[in-house]
Amino acid sequence: MNGGRFIVFEGGEGAGKSTQAKALVAKLRAMGLEVVQTREPGGSPGAEALRDLLVNGEATRWSATSELLMMYAARADHLEKVIRPALQRGAWVVCDRFTDSSRAYQGAGGGVAQGFIEQVDTAVVGDTQPDLVLVMDMPVEAGLRRAKARGDGENRFESKGQVFHERLRAGFLARAGQFPARYRVIDADQGIEPITTEIWAQVQAAFPDVRGAS
Ligand code: TYD
Repeated sequence: MNGGRFIVFEGGEGAGKSTQAKALVAKLRAMGLEVVQTREPGGSPGAEALRDLLVNGEATRWSATSELLMMYAARADHLEKVIRPALQRGAWVVCDRFTDSSRAYQGAGGGVAQGFIEQVDTAVVGDTQPDLVLVMDMPVEAGLRRAKARGDGENRFESKGQVFHERLRAGFLARAGQFPARYRVIDADQGIEPITTEIWAQVQAAFPDVRGAS
């Protein structure tokens, strides 16, 4: 049994996941909780080295199957070195992207069979599944515009085109619809403040430990 809680932010490009993850982490820390803020691909030194290979270069650099296996190779390291130790000592983990990004980008977007993804997922992630997944949802065009404006240079996935991004948005929403107990879809096409407020309300509703805190 994990002592801590595992919260994941998911969504397409430019949905403001990182900003909202930061805000949530600050609120949880203000309550005196130990919180590990992390991200995928990456989150441990080995996984960050794989991230460089994954997010840079030509869109066609890797096939979707190669990407899937590299994402899970990075994830295995991240789980072993960071996520499981944190949960075991009772810390909260807030992660920017996790397995649903693989299901959406490599599965729904890239065409890797969902059955294969689930086999790999069972082997690598097992029962270290998120307690709560916040899906940041917004129209694809607006998200891509925001991501472009940010211009962080990591644009391999951004460059895959609108149809690809529509498929993965549908993938995230389908997954959320399938597991309504653990998933919340957040309307990310609004200002930062109202989104932060909505997320905090959802976290308080999901975890009795933080209920009643301001
Ligand atoms: P991220 O740094 O979250 O990008 P952004 O902030 O632009 O949304 O993630 C980098 C890219 O990696 C992003 O385009 C999504 C992609 N990705 C996958 O394709 N599969 C995965 O399993 C993960 C975790 C990320």
